[in-house]
Amino acid sequence: MNQEEIKKLISQMTLEEKAGLCSGADFWHTKAVERLGIPATMVSDGPHGLRKQDEEADHLGINDSIKAVCFPAASATAASFNTEMIEKMGESLGEACQHEKLSVILGPAVNIKRSPLCGRNFEYFSEDPFLAGKMAASLIKGIQSKNVGTSIKHFALNNQEHRRMSSSAECDERTMREIYFPPFEIAVKEAKPWTVMCSYNRINGVFASENHWLLTEVLRDKWGFDGYVMSDWGAVSDRVEGIKAGLDLEMPASGGINDAKIVKAVQEGKLDEKLVDLCCERILNIVFRYTENARPDTPWDKEAHHKQAADIAAECIVLLKNEDDLLPLNKEDEIAFIGEFAEKPRFQGGGSSHINCFKITSALDAAKDLKITYAQGYSAAKDEATDEQIAEAVSAAKKAKVAVVFAGLPDSYESEGYDRSHMRMPKCQNRLIEAVAEANPNTVVVLHNGSPVEMPWIGKVKAVLEAYLGGQAVGEAEVRVLFGDENPSGHLPESFPIKLEDNPSYLFFGGEPAASEYREGIFVGYRYYDKKKMSVLFPFGHGLSYTTFAYSDLKLSSTSIKDTDTVEATVTVTNTGKRAGKAVVQLYTGAENGFVNAVRPVRELKGFKKVALEPGESKIVSFTLDKRSFATWRTEIHDWWVEGGVYTVEVGSSSADLPVKACLNIESTVSLPKHYDINSIMMDIMADPKGREIAAEFIRKGMSVFGGGQEEGSEAANEAISSDMSMAMMNYMPLRGMLSFGGNAEAEAAINALLAQLNR
Ligand code: BGC
Repeated sequence: MNQEEIKKLISQMTLEEKAGLCSGADFWHTKAVERLGIPATMVSDGPHGLRKQDEEADHLGINDSIKAVCFPAASATAASFNTEMIEKMGESLGEACQHEKLSVILGPAVNIKRSPLCGRNFEYFSEDPFLAGKMAASLIKGIQSKNVGTSIKHFALNNQEHRRMSSSAECDERTMREIYFPPFEIAVKEAKPWTVMCSYNRINGVFASENHWLLTEVLRDKWGFDGYVMSDWGAVSDRVEGIKAGLDLEMPASGGINDAKIVKAVQEGKLDEKLVDLCCERILNIVFRYTENARPDTPWDKEAHHKQAADIAAECIVLLKNEDDLLPLNKEDEIAFIGEFAEKPRFQGGGSSHINCFKITSALDAAKDLKITYAQGYSAAKDEATDEQIAEAVSAAKKAKVAVVFAGLPDSYESEGYDRSHMRMPKCQNRLIEAVAEANPNTVVVLHNGSPVEMPWIGKVKAVLEAYLGGQAVGEAEVRVLFGDENPSGHLPESFPIKLEDNPSYLFFGGEPAASEYREGIFVGYRYYDKKKMSVLFPFGHGLSYTTFAYSDLKLSSTSIKDTDTVEATVTVTNTGKRAGKAVVQLYTGAENGFVNAVRPVRELKGFKKVALEPGESKIVSFTLDKRSFATWRTEIHDWWVEGGVYTVEVGSSSADLPVKACLNIESTVSLPKHYDINSIMMDIMADPKGREIAAEFIRKGMSVFGGGQEEGSEAANEAISSDMSMAMMNYMPLRGMLSFGGNAEAEAAINALLAQLNR
């Protein structure tokens, strides 16, 4: 149906029917208007598998849904740094949606992992906006290639679960634009999601669901979003304000109450009916885009998707540590698998993303043909390790060549709906790991968690694999990596601080009673740790391999550009080891000496590529950098801006291992609007080329004041002026200072004339 036809349809609808269309029919369906042939469509969670509920509906993952395939959660897939792979995962999800007659899958979830404590971190990609945006865009492209929609969520600043439906995220403009918006912005611009889900929380006091600036000015007017915005489940406070703000669909249903309020507001002249029409138009666009392309005959090959889930999980696993090259293990050796997660892996989180898996492969299942002994070690549900369990584990560890402890966070430790209160692993598991490591020096830990944990035992174990929440086939992936059938190539999509208190949001995260202050500003994750030169347990981007890679020959297509130009960066990556492997080539930019005009992070990720290399093989990897690769957000112009100066481009395998570096001079083509008054200081005037041109002579004259009464231009006067202290005094001197230190009416007139010229 084309736009004209949809408009015509809307013109035939009654006000009541239009208002009705703006909220769901039930938990998962949009409303039908049968007399006009408007069908109902179904939406479902999401994001890493289908949670389609047939009967008892809920949004907390409590009641059962159909049997489906649980792919790795976003915390894991982000670690793959593999955009092609996640796009393929999206295609499979899209096929499943078509098969199950779903118009929209509710995801991806792209909120920034601001603190290790957020209960939903496992569902989110990264602490870095560029990585989160690129991964989300790829997933969306894959899903939507099958003609079903996505709902990128939760827009915006939903970075905690604590008081999630009422709290206000108090955040400054620059931080929103540089950190919290880009995952949405990148995905909206590059992948055009059919829908966006607004978040529960308020933003600087205004609910996301009523936020005109957010839903209309930023999302539609600036980024070009053309689908419909739906509310998170129960995120609507004032429905009429929501319509005005650009919230098209309220989910799930309002029981008719809000529909009536919309009708009343229109009838009383408080709401323009055209705005209701607009919501209907956007909803119907998507309703028909789906129904006209519905292919319920699409096969859903769950076994094939299970296999794909294993391949993806294997590519997501991060080798954090591998002392003495303990890994990969030898298939001929006796190995002890210790810990309940070897038998019952934790591979997904609780809440609305919880999948009813048709099949689960544990590490024990996957290693059934190998020489494995198993000891349970602890009970995740009881969160305890009895003395017998520990003794059994120690004895198994002693007899084995290598002990592998499968550990991590039990379900109750991280979930939608609440945040973690600390960053520790369960005490019983820490105790188990220490005991096993004591019994066998060759101990490996495999972690299952959606977010960083403290590792008090890190110095006592030889190897650590971070599996995140790797989906229903995670066990197979783990065994492949442990025994070397797969060379690990995951890299951390977040920093692992040594302890929670190191995290930049530590002092303010959560927020009581009603607001969460984002006082760390743009310094989230590695942006903070790098700036503070702080040690971390594992840095952002870190990930080892069973082979080694070397980086060389970083070249820029130009060493001097304008901010309107692009530049190509090329770098050679070589596999210098003996195994085939995949390198994650990461490119970061920064300002060479830090500039006057903006406090900025030392470096920021602006490009990454995953490259497969045979032993000895080299490949040239290239990146295109543009204005956004160097810009900061300026509140004076409410836009991106590149300050003129020298920038760095660094490439390597993690934010802390960047062996090659190049410099680039960028000329700014936009000058920030400046306004001077008598309180403007000399330094600022002189830093502005226009200011310098106009005021140089005036200031030179003024400086004679600091010649200590010596005759202007005399040697003594010049000496006095050039002393450090005088320079500093002069730099920080406001124009009015010229009057305070021996000025007169003539000087005042001169200052006013100068200001008039400067501000012209
Ligand atoms: C969650 C969303 C989810 C929705 C529907 C909400 O509680 O925040 O992510 O899509 O429920 O289940």
